[in-house]
Amino acid sequence: MTTTLTIRRPDDWHLHLRDGEMLKAVLPETTRHFARAIIMPNLVPPVVTLDDARAYHGRIMDALPQGAAFDPLMTLYLTENTDADDVAAAHASGLVKAVKLYPAGATTNSASGVSNLDAVRGVLERMAEIGLPLCVHGEVTDPEVDIFDREAVFIDRVLEPMRRAVPGLRVVMEHITTADGVEYARTGDGDLGATITTHHLMINRNHMLVGGIRPHYYCLPVVKRARHQKALREAATSGEARFFLGTDSAPHNDAGKESACGCAGVFSASNTMSCLAHVFEEENALNRLEAFASLNGPAFYRLPPNETRLTLTRQGPVDYPAKIETGVGPVTLFDPGHPLLWAVSEAAA
Ligand code: NCD
Ligand code: ZN
Repeated sequence: MTTTLTIRRPDDWHLHLRDGEMLKAVLPETTRHFARAIIMPNLVPPVVTLDDARAYHGRIMDALPQGAAFDPLMTLYLTENTDADDVAAAHASGLVKAVKLYPAGATTNSASGVSNLDAVRGVLERMAEIGLPLCVHGEVTDPEVDIFDREAVFIDRVLEPMRRAVPGLRVVMEHITTADGVEYARTGDGDLGATITTHHLMINRNHMLVGGIRPHYYCLPVVKRARHQKALREAATSGEARFFLGTDSAPHNDAGKESACGCAGVFSASNTMSCLAHVFEEENALNRLEAFASLNGPAFYRLPPNETRLTLTRQGPVDYPAKIETGVGPVTLFDPGHPLLWAVSEAAA
């Protein structure tokens, strides 16, 4: 049996770092294992312009633990007022690696998102021209559409028409959660990628709802049926270049999660690599973990893979804290529901 695995240092292609005290507390949990991450812009107020991104990048760099080698890849939050020239300048600066589309009201802090895609058509065309990827939160917000169907309906109603209207636009389907998402991602060529989270590989809606409601498993897009989880596992472990890791690690404090109207978001930065080794071992695909976590993402974003390495060792149950402390209260770490046997034994900076 394989007991150690050395891979290129991984990157996280979808991460929420927040700001202020929360940023300070969660950033080391990512920099311990990951070299780079695509930083989500859904702050309050959101990161909309190149200036906003520069300022947020500065705050992240200031919060870095001593000696950490970490490159935050910034994103801009697309609004109906976004200026195509500012987006092009952001791309040219090298600081901004993607623009994020949130349908207005789809998820946490998405009130400034897009209601009318025609209003952003010019920006999307410019992005297609310069090769800047659009990261898409793929859920419709139509109240008539059942929450478990919102991803599939988004693909038909929004994503496919948008890709047809703007040929050449490079799109990342963020955190896909269904067999429909997997299937649609496979219809693209090099211009369509899809991230998959750690928790969607490990849990389905039964884990969240059977025997009591578990608020720490609630996220958006919400976890679906077991057959969708199976499709995601098959995709992630397939080695196909279009699928790569985006943890969507999204910290909220316990007061926000354990509430009559709890926030969406799973915090998984600390134990993601142990979780992934577990999943890939179960799927007999440990030899493809590196593709998913360390190679396919940079290839899509046209960046070189990391030169440093990370070693995982199968050494028996790893002790992760149940919570991390932050200046704004405790944040509960994703609980896979069983022991994790793979530990990150060495992460060269
Ligand atoms: C994210 C957050 O908390 O910012 N929540 C989540 O459940 N994934 C927003 C998002 O990515 O949808
Ligand atoms: Zn997210």
